[in-house]
Amino acid sequence: MTITAKPYLQSIFIKSDASLDFNSYPFNIPAVAKLDQIRFHPDATFFVGENGAGKSTVLEAIALALGYSPEGGTRNVQLETTKSVSSLYESIGLVQSYRKPRDGYFLRAETFFNVATYMDEVGYLDGYGGKSLHSRSHGEAFLTLLTNKFNGKGLYLLDEPEAALSPNRQLAALSAIHQLVQNESQFIIATHSPILLAYPNAKIILFDETGLSEVTYEQTDHYSITRDFLNHYDRRLEQLFGPDPDES
Ligand SMILES: Nc1ncnc2c1ncn2[C@@H]1O[C@H](COP(=O)(O)OP(=O)(O)OP(=O)(O)O)[C@@H](O)[C@H]1O
Ligand SMILES: [Mg+2]
Repeated sequence: MTITAKPYLQSIFIKSDASLDFNSYPFNIPAVAKLDQIRFHPDATFFVGENGAGKSTVLEAIALALGYSPEGGTRNVQLETTKSVSSLYESIGLVQSYRKPRDGYFLRAETFFNVATYMDEVGYLDGYGGKSLHSRSHGEAFLTLLTNKFNGKGLYLLDEPEAALSPNRQLAALSAIHQLVQNESQFIIATHSPILLAYPNAKIILFDETGLSEVTYEQTDHYSITRDFLNHYDRRLEQLFGPDPDES
C-alpha cells in the first residue's frame, strides 16, 4: 500500500462529545446540523450550495481549527478581529496527514482588504511581488496571491476566490490552481464559479437542507443554470421580464 502525503487535511468530523445547540447558529443551519464528516479530495474539494447554505461557516471553522485568524491570511497573521465567529471550530476534529503542509493560506473575500493593510504595515511584501496589494486592483491582488504568494506544498482554504476575477482571470486562476496541485498542494474552495468548478481533479460537495452530498460538475446548478442561460438568454430574459400571464 502506498502512503501518500496528500490530502494534508484528510477529513473533519463532529466530535462525539460536542454539545450541539440546534436552535442557534451555527447548528440551526440544516447542512451544519446534519454534518457528520467531510472527506477531502487530495487535490481540490469544492463547497457549493445556495447563499446561506453554510459553506463559509464550515470553511471558517476548518480554518480556525487549523490555527488561522478569522480575518484570514497566513497563520502568522493574527489580526484583532471584530468578526463574530461561530463556535463550530470547537466541535470539529481534524484528521491530518503524517506530513504537514509547508505553506498555507485562508482567503476570505470580505476581509482581504484588512489583511492587505496588515501586510503593508508589517512591510511584508516579498510574497506579494514586492508591491503593496493596495496598489493593485482587487482582481490583480487576488491573482497575485495565487501566483506569487502561494509557494506550493500547501493547504489553501479559499472562500469565493472568484469574487474579484474577470472570466479571463478565473481561467488564469484555474491554471494557477492546477500548477499548485501539481506541486503537491491541496485546495478547499467555497465557490459559485462555474469556471472554477470545472476543475477535473476535484470533489464537489453540495450543501443544502438535506445535508451534504457529493455531486458531479454537470449536476450543479452553477453548470446547468449558466449553460441554459447562455444558450437561451433571449428566451430566459423574456420569461424573467415578460408580462405576467395572469394579468393579460
Ligand atoms: N456570525 C453569524 N451569526 C449568526 N448567523 C450567521 C452568522 N454568520 C452567518 N450566519 C447565518 O448562517 C447562514 C449560513 O451563512 P454562510 O455565510 O455560512 O453561508 P454561505 O453558504 O457561505 O453563503 P454565500 O454563498 O452567500 O456566501 C446564513 O443564514 C447566515 O445568515
Ligand atoms: Mg459564503
